[in-house]
Amino acid sequence: MAKANKGVPLARPDDLWARVERLHPDLSRRLVAWQAQNGRHDLPWQNTRDPYRVWLSEIMLQQTQVTTVLGYYERFLQRFPTVRDLAQAPLDDVLTLWAGLGYYSRARNLHRCAQAVVADHGGQFPQTVEQLVTLSGIGPSTAAAIASFCFEVRTSIMDGNVKRVLSRVLAWDQDLAVKTHERQLWDAANHLVPEQAKDMPAYTQGLMDLGATVCSPRKPSCLVCPWADWCGARLQDEPERFPVKSRKLKRSERESWPLWLEWSGQVWLEQMPDTGVWAGLWTLPLMQDAQALQALATLSKGAAVEPQPRIKHVLTHLDWWLNTQRQVLTQAPSEALSHALQQRSAGGRWVSLDELHTVGLPAPFKKMLVG
Ligand code: ADE
Repeated sequence: MAKANKGVPLARPDDLWARVERLHPDLSRRLVAWQAQNGRHDLPWQNTRDPYRVWLSEIMLQQTQVTTVLGYYERFLQRFPTVRDLAQAPLDDVLTLWAGLGYYSRARNLHRCAQAVVADHGGQFPQTVEQLVTLSGIGPSTAAAIASFCFEVRTSIMDGNVKRVLSRVLAWDQDLAVKTHERQLWDAANHLVPEQAKDMPAYTQGLMDLGATVCSPRKPSCLVCPWADWCGARLQDEPERFPVKSRKLKRSERESWPLWLEWSGQVWLEQMPDTGVWAGLWTLPLMQDAQALQALATLSKGAAVEPQPRIKHVLTHLDWWLNTQRQVLTQAPSEALSHALQQRSAGGRWVSLDELHTVGLPAPFKKMLVG
């Protein structure tokens, strides 16, 4: 049963538990059968119980669409076929392969996690949720995905899609921004898993498939849903009212003026510091405003400055506007320019256009410079 957390009164736990008791084990049985018939079976990280592959896919799929992940996943496994290969690789190689996937702290944690698996677990991923969550970058839901897919542990995932699916079927209308309410839903989810451990991989995949292909945030396809007969939200005729979550993400904006300096088939790049959204990646020099960009550009006398289309780079919490200006030098950079560039970033360097694919570029610059 759900436990009260730190003295916070439970919100209608009896209703929730009454529904859970009524629906268990029919929900899991029907979902497992539906997954076999209607779920996804051909994604490259399916049909394997190898925790390295499952872990890699789950980390890549956090905040990133399946279609984007597919290519990255294959390239990653080609370059790092085992967790040992990944652990031994330089971080720069990992970041280079990750470039364009975004949220680069994932790549750093991935590398750290691989090293811990080798150093502390003899190269084998641990098999329990409790041990998995001690590894860098593995939160409780990712741990549950790995444990249920690879080791048939009877535990539920709880990502954004699953919160939506389960709060609908259970008509759980308490505010999920309140930790206790989310915990109660997760307790219920753990109670709803199949009785037979062997069904866990299909059940977990079924939850993901239902969230991704049927129980969409807007206009869910209730007519083809295996849970429609029992779904509390549908019976109330307002599936879109669930999940209830009060806190809205506060978005902010940032603006930068990148200078795209080209000379003799090379482009000037700087490495970003170890923190921030593009930590460790290579970018054009990012100037704070148009004046700073102009000041740098005037050091290349005679070379025209060509404004590029303004780009909006959208992150979870942030819209980042990039006002790039391109300048192709017709003669060797002046001493004043070289000095100014070195002053900005000691690690800056000219990179040949043919070698751009070997450095980690954030997605907007990759598109701009490589196409
Ligand atoms: N999203 C997160 N994990 C996934 C998986 N295993 N398959 C498809 N989409 C996912």
